[in-house]
Amino acid sequence: MPRRIAIVSQKGGVGKTTVSLNLALALAERGRRTLLVDLDPQGGVGHSLAKGDGELIGLADVLAGQVSVEQAVLPTHEPGLSLLPRGRLDPVDVCELELMLHAPGRLEAVLAEADGGFDLTLIDTPSGLGMPTRAALRVADYVLVPLQTERLALRSVAQLLRVIEHVKATDNPRLELLGVLATMADKTSEPSVAVLVDAWNDLTAVLDTIVPRHGAFAQASEAGIPLGFLGGAPSPEARRFDMLAEEVEVTMARLGGKELGHDRPRRSLL
Ligand SMILES: Nc1ncnc2c1ncn2[C@@H]1O[C@H](COP(=O)(O)OP(=O)(O)OP(=O)(O)O)[C@@H](O)[C@H]1O
Ligand SMILES: [Mg+2]
Repeated sequence: MPRRIAIVSQKGGVGKTTVSLNLALALAERGRRTLLVDLDPQGGVGHSLAKGDGELIGLADVLAGQVSVEQAVLPTHEPGLSLLPRGRLDPVDVCELELMLHAPGRLEAVLAEADGGFDLTLIDTPSGLGMPTRAALRVADYVLVPLQTERLALRSVAQLLRVIEHVKATDNPRLELLGVLATMADKTSEPSVAVLVDAWNDLTAVLDTIVPRHGAFAQASEAGIPLGFLGGAPSPEARRFDMLAEEVEVTMARLGGKELGHDRPRRSLL
């Protein structure tokens, strides 16, 4: 069974899609067969890959009964990484898509067919706590919460953590908080550092890896590629996602996802 990680935040523009894409790539580069699913009706992943609305067949087409799941899963140039894009969607049909995503068992059925051959599924969600996000939380094993290190960010994370607890208690007892990931951190900005310090003090699940604010992200966005594909010497920012991938694997193992297995035999040094 693949492990599913939903990337969720109440606030918009905090780096969910950036984290989803670059983390999925880093996990695939580490040899994990990874599927990245775009659950955002606005098609965040497609836009990050410079694909306009409606260019990629995907989830919306599957839910509308127009293509099979197999036809919608798109292999990428990175071995081991595939996408399930949002799919072709007329903006006037967004409500229908959201209702279909929310219908009991519907998303689970599509994902079960799509991700059977993968080790990990990452689910990018739209901002907010609406139907697509709830649907993602219902089918996920883990939830990763990006925290943009800006004033007031902690308040929205606290609200989301309440919703995660609620979904765990009512709909999905498997759901575990993988961690809160500081994003767009700027060590030269006092408010950014203050949010980090508050997060470390107030929350128990803050990951050690921090994603810094850097111009390379805009460059990659503009080029429509993940950071690691920008060319030239690997940037330190891209390497952050290797660190994040490793931390995610270690945290999943600690929380009980042992089947990903990096267990080493005990040895003696002398
Ligand atoms: N660490 C970073 N440093 C600088 N810019 C960043 C960083 N992470 C993301 N960005 C930029 O911030 C913008 C928003 O990022 P992204 O689309 O990943 O956020 P999101 O949470 O998915 O947004 P939405 O809620 O609209 O789906 C993008 O232009 C992206 O290139
Ligand atoms: Mg997004």
